[in-house]
Amino acid sequence: MSGPLVVLVGPMGVGKSTVGQQLAERLQVAYRDTDDDIVAEQGRAIADIFVEEGESAFRALEKQAVRRALAEHDGVLALGGGSILDADTRALLSGLRVVYLSMDVEEAVKRTGLNAARPLLAVNPRKQWRELMEARRHLYEEVATVVVPTDGRTPEEVTQASLDAL
Ligand code: S3P
Repeated sequence: MSGPLVVLVGPMGVGKSTVGQQLAERLQVAYRDTDDDIVAEQGRAIADIFVEEGESAFRALEKQAVRRALAEHDGVLALGGGSILDADTRALLSGLRVVYLSMDVEEAVKRTGLNAARPLLAVNPRKQWRELMEARRHLYEEVATVVVPTDGRTPEEVTQASLDAL
């Protein structure tokens, strides 16, 4: 097996799950999401892992989950928004078709707002989004073979734009 047909990266709330499922349906392949893998394996919510063990413990679990999914899955794979922070993970993505679903900060604030299930946005979402995007944008761009902007677009439009770009 040569890895997933398509990997989706991008910030939380950008629509990776929705677009990923639509893409998988259109391409007639299976959909997988590393956040779901972690929740299933751990038997608890991601927010609980953050609270109980901290972010770095979560990142270690995420790194393993991504490595496993890249080796096992040949359909559409969505990665958690922070998985590209890890250099080994970024290296594993080289040679794959990686779609970066992008959005600007205001769109991100509008879409996610205050969301307790997303531990990285617990306080002052606008400031946190700005910092998050500044820290990560270049990493998403580094791994991406295609960038698909999502601002003001419906998931269906983003799915179509992704298919057109592949
Ligand atoms: C995170 C994104 C989340 C989840 C966790 C941390 C991040 O995944 O892995 O809350 O660091 O951006 P989604 O991008 O699937 O929401």
